[in-house]
Amino acid sequence: MVSREAMHILHVVGTRPNFMKAAPVLRALKKRSGVRQTLVHTGQHYDQNLSDVFLSQLGMPQPDVNLEVGSGSHAVQTAEVMKRLESVVLERNPDVVLVYGDVNSTVAAALVCSKLLIRLAHVEAGLRSFDRTMPEEINRIVTDKLADILFTPSEDGDVNLQREGIPVENIHRVGNVMIDSLVQLLPAAIACPTNGLPQRYALVTLHRPANVDNSIVLESILGSLLEVNEQLEVVFPLHPRTRQRIAQFGLNIEKLHFVEPLPYVEFLSLQRGAAVVITDSGGIQEETTYLGVPCLTLRRNTERPVTVTLGTNILVGQDFERLRYEVASVLAGKTKKGSIPPLWDGHAGERIADVLLAQATGLLTPLG
Ligand code: UD1
Repeated sequence: MVSREAMHILHVVGTRPNFMKAAPVLRALKKRSGVRQTLVHTGQHYDQNLSDVFLSQLGMPQPDVNLEVGSGSHAVQTAEVMKRLESVVLERNPDVVLVYGDVNSTVAAALVCSKLLIRLAHVEAGLRSFDRTMPEEINRIVTDKLADILFTPSEDGDVNLQREGIPVENIHRVGNVMIDSLVQLLPAAIACPTNGLPQRYALVTLHRPANVDNSIVLESILGSLLEVNEQLEVVFPLHPRTRQRIAQFGLNIEKLHFVEPLPYVEFLSLQRGAAVVITDSGGIQEETTYLGVPCLTLRRNTERPVTVTLGTNILVGQDFERLRYEVASVLAGKTKKGSIPPLWDGHAGERIADVLLAQATGLLTPLG
């Protein structure tokens, strides 16, 4: 039998939301004996504000390899990750590769590893919006189809995967790894100074192509936010994609309180203190549910339905009448109460480590 000393786990991350998911898994595995880890950053996100600050606040090691793929169309970005990752995987020859979430780096790494017959584990498997106009939905479906080990955050993930024919023994419900990072850094967020912030505010984030890439849609969203701003000051950390589109479309945004993208702890502190969060992000729907802060999501669907059924999330889509109504309800003190979904307890990374180690012997059996 091959010794467990040899178990080599390679993690692939590329974007801001990947870092919060990978950090707890890296930490949990570091505590286990007989595990060697390699961290590959694809460089999909490369701005200091979207990348380096996150790695350091989350206590992640410096990446062993940075593929520096940068920005590009979906095909170009995905292809660049594939081209540059293949030689790294061949050279490092890991026993298992872990990929996170649903971004282009995730699906690219999944394609590379499955063709090299390297065992692939997907963290945050099984989420479905059932909306194939979202690039992330394509990434989720393909990655899950290729993965050998699927770590789901909630029961709906298991149901979706089984419906798609994934063998039940490959599915492991471990809970929400992103909440591990939140639990770990909440004390730092509570201690974070809140200088310059209004007493009461709505926190806004916006970056989905469906909301920001079309000038008419973006203009109407910003118009509604200006109306919200008359009742409740809007604080709006600006994603680079959104900043570019606002400039490109020549939109007037002077009255809104824009800030640069924030580091993780500072952003968590802002979420915690917000009267309401208005967003199109996936992760923020989950973080607000954990924090018990009302969340109005500017999307018609969500791949994270437990945030609606159990949590504080309300889908408002692009119904701006509804947005006004919900903001008025918050101001009147009528907010949606929620509960924290099962297994969103800060220990998902440990459970992932348990599964990987339990499978270690199997992992070292050559495939094919
Ligand atoms: C990506 C993910 C999305 C995730 C989001 C989190 C995909 C398909 N999308 O979207 O699921 O929710 O990250 O932020 O993978 N840019 C910079 N600096 C950077 C990175 C990007 O200025 O460090 C600019 C570039 O001009 C780029 C644009 O932002 O073209 C969009 O970046 P990209 O990585 O393509 O997608 P995101 O919108 O960030």
